[in-house]
Amino acid sequence: MPNARLALDPSFVVAPVSRRTFGTFVEHLGRCVYGGIHDPGHPTADADGFRGDVIDFVRELGISTVRYPGGNFVSGYRWEDGIGPVADRPVRKDLAWHSTEPNLVGVDEFMRWAKKAGVEPMMAVNLGTRGVQEAIDLLDYTNGAGGSFHSDLRKKNGSADPYDIKMWCLGNEMDGPWQIGHKTAREYGRLASETARAMRLIDNDLTLVACGSSGADMPTFGTWEREVLEETYDEVDLISMHAYYWEKDGDLASFLAAGVEMDHFIDDVVASVDHVRAAQKKTKRINISFDEWNVWYLDGEASKNPTDWPVAPVLLEDQYNVADAVVVGGLLISLLKHSDRVASASLAQLVNVIAPIMTETGGRSWKQTTFHPFAQASSFARGDVLRVELQSPVHETAKYGAVPALDAVATHDPETGDVSVFAINRSLTEELTVDVDTRAFGGVRLVQATTLHDADPYKSVTVDTADSVAPVANDKTSWDGSVLSVVLPPLSWNVVRLAKQ
Ligand code: AHR
Repeated sequence: MPNARLALDPSFVVAPVSRRTFGTFVEHLGRCVYGGIHDPGHPTADADGFRGDVIDFVRELGISTVRYPGGNFVSGYRWEDGIGPVADRPVRKDLAWHSTEPNLVGVDEFMRWAKKAGVEPMMAVNLGTRGVQEAIDLLDYTNGAGGSFHSDLRKKNGSADPYDIKMWCLGNEMDGPWQIGHKTAREYGRLASETARAMRLIDNDLTLVACGSSGADMPTFGTWEREVLEETYDEVDLISMHAYYWEKDGDLASFLAAGVEMDHFIDDVVASVDHVRAAQKKTKRINISFDEWNVWYLDGEASKNPTDWPVAPVLLEDQYNVADAVVVGGLLISLLKHSDRVASASLAQLVNVIAPIMTETGGRSWKQTTFHPFAQASSFARGDVLRVELQSPVHETAKYGAVPALDAVATHDPETGDVSVFAINRSLTEELTVDVDTRAFGGVRLVQATTLHDADPYKSVTVDTADSVAPVANDKTSWDGSVLSVVLPPLSWNVVRLAKQ
């Protein structure tokens, strides 16, 4: 059985854990909104039609922010369609997903849902078919105190207090030719800059996110970031990253190393944005909003747009397996390792659409395999993110060459002394004994070790078998008071929790 080694030290601090790392995404797409968070006929629905069972899962996931209302959808969206009496709202074609948008849920409903779910909203404005005016109208509607047309309209629509939304995305994936209103970097950069400047005239206390590339494989990647930031550097705070990973051509070994690809992507975006910082002689640092990431089998049947115009079709309803959960764990490790530059992130998406939570419209709900790494990381990552010194046997991949079989990150809460280690074993066949050297903490005890693993990496769950893939206690541990040995099963996601003695 190969051995790996991890050295932990409370002084190897990368950055404080950003709660905003544990964000997700709700788009008007498929059954994410209708039949997902909103399902008035459901037995657990409240007066607004929001499902209580979904909100319970949201709380268990420990979500911080929720990005809304898209995604590709936002680039053709008129936010005014979703306010006022529901009976008066227009029904529109949503070109992005070839669906019909009934506008039963809009910004006011979403804000009521966010409040109930205890999450921070991250609002996106349409910079595809619309521009500065519509963005500032929406901002005044949400954040204005009253005494102006749009803020008074919000009051008339039932919300006396401003929503005070802090996080705003300036459009979505504007580099993508599939995007409605797709633009060149210069065109988008100018529009984003002017929109940001006008928004700050209404409310200067905002975190504004410019669109970065929709993937590292985009032909404009790198140049896009440079040109957009050359136009927007002073006005924005963050630049977005989007990335989806899936097993291609049966190459499971490479898929399990998706975190390595995410590491490179983040490093490349940091290099691009810091280049603009150097060239423009700025002191301000632009950080990253990784506001779409996940496993998504985007070339699969489940992701083909409908040909007619259905309301809330079954779309992008990927069913996740054990390997997908391990990859999601690996991606969370990558995001945490980069906490000095990744200020926020959103797992895309929340319910039904490439999601950790699934529902039957009007019926039962359940957790996908990918629910578990997210819920564990969000509940146990506390305090500071620690870089770990790692020695590991290698894992051979066709795509990335030899990468470590073990990937890991740790957090340490200086107030409580709690330490959490998050680790994956990428090996398809071999257990890995990991020696965790804890001497630098001067006296800790093992609280819990868990593992998520199955002999079948392709095992997924249904509503009837949802509990059959979940973290279980890992009792293959031994402890000599300073070094903890823990055996990680092949292809597994693992959490080890330590506390002060
Ligand atoms: O999350 C699904 C889609 O992926 C989003 O709408 C879009 O932004 C991205 O291409």
